[in-house]
Amino acid sequence: MLEGKVVGVVSSKGGAGKTVFVANLAFAMSSVFGRRILAVDGNLEAPNLGLCFNLPHPPLTLRDALEDKIPIEEAIYQLNEKMDLILGYLMNEATSRKAKLGEKIQFLLKKYDFILIDSCTGVDEDVMKASDELLVITEPDRLSVTTVYKLIKAARENELKIRVILNKVRGSKGELEKSAVEATLAQPVASVIPYDPRVIEAVNKGVSVLQLSPNSPASKSYKKLAADLLGEELREGIIEKTSKALKKLKIKAPSEEEVEIRVEVGSDEILAKKKVIETALNRLFEYYERGLILEDVYKDLKRKYLEELEQLDSQAQR
Ligand SMILES: Nc1ncnc2c1ncn2[C@@H]1O[C@H](COP(=O)(O)OP(=O)(O)OP(=O)(O)O)[C@@H](O)[C@H]1O
Ligand SMILES: [Mg+2]
Repeated sequence: MLEGKVVGVVSSKGGAGKTVFVANLAFAMSSVFGRRILAVDGNLEAPNLGLCFNLPHPPLTLRDALEDKIPIEEAIYQLNEKMDLILGYLMNEATSRKAKLGEKIQFLLKKYDFILIDSCTGVDEDVMKASDELLVITEPDRLSVTTVYKLIKAARENELKIRVILNKVRGSKGELEKSAVEATLAQPVASVIPYDPRVIEAVNKGVSVLQLSPNSPASKSYKKLAADLLGEELREGIIEKTSKALKKLKIKAPSEEEVEIRVEVGSDEILAKKKVIETALNRLFEYYERGLILEDVYKDLKRKYLEELEQLDSQAQR
């Protein structure tokens, strides 16, 4: 039986990226590492986690559970085989009812490895009380970092473990550097998520950026953080491996398959590369069928890989 950890995602300034972060981190933890993850929309003042997955009007929500109209289990929406959501609905008198959040969530801990909770901007005491640990989101500018300090102080007073996430980093001149953020907050930065237009595009399509662009800069950061939180090692994905393999003319496929390929084809470079691509094609199809990448992405990569195969065939005939 699982015994999940509850992680609240908080920030002091609006628009720092909490909601989108919860959506993508939960997707990375579940789709890449196969863990059971629940993402909860705890921002009942502006609930919009559902929009990140094209679910703007959930029939049953956290609000119904907090108002004791339904058991919390009935508010669970299954997004895919490993990831569930509990979405929100605007609740004006959120303050008093939301105090029950922690108590309600306790019923679900046995079903999940991690429960991620999105929160209201500022010191969201109910989310903080419900959490075992906090991920504190800040942008790399002085106003964000200074205001987030208040939140960190409150977390320290509550003896909550915190990890700071630096979000929307452009690497541009004038931005606060990671070391400056660490010095101001007296806290290491656990993860840097780059500013990535693909994140915005994915939100507009109602999917995770990992489905739209698995190797975009932000996707890579979400995967890396997911690995750190789960104590896993992040291995290169099949798409990344295949493109590198083709570039370098070296065989690099996922571990077990790599061994099999080497044994099977020995030093025949063309045959080996064909095997790598065929393996990638099979894996891609599996990902697509499981809803882990979008149809467009799947079709595009499939077309590229088939073209590569054709080229290799014509090379072999020469
Ligand atoms: N890494 C990123 N790269 C580019 N855009 C991002 C990134 N992370 C978040 N965004 C964008 O920033 C905007 C605000 O994000 P989001 O709504 O998640 O913030 P929030 O902290 O939840 O805001 P609120 O205070 O309203 O709850 C969105 O348009 C989102 O797409
Ligand atoms: Mg939000």
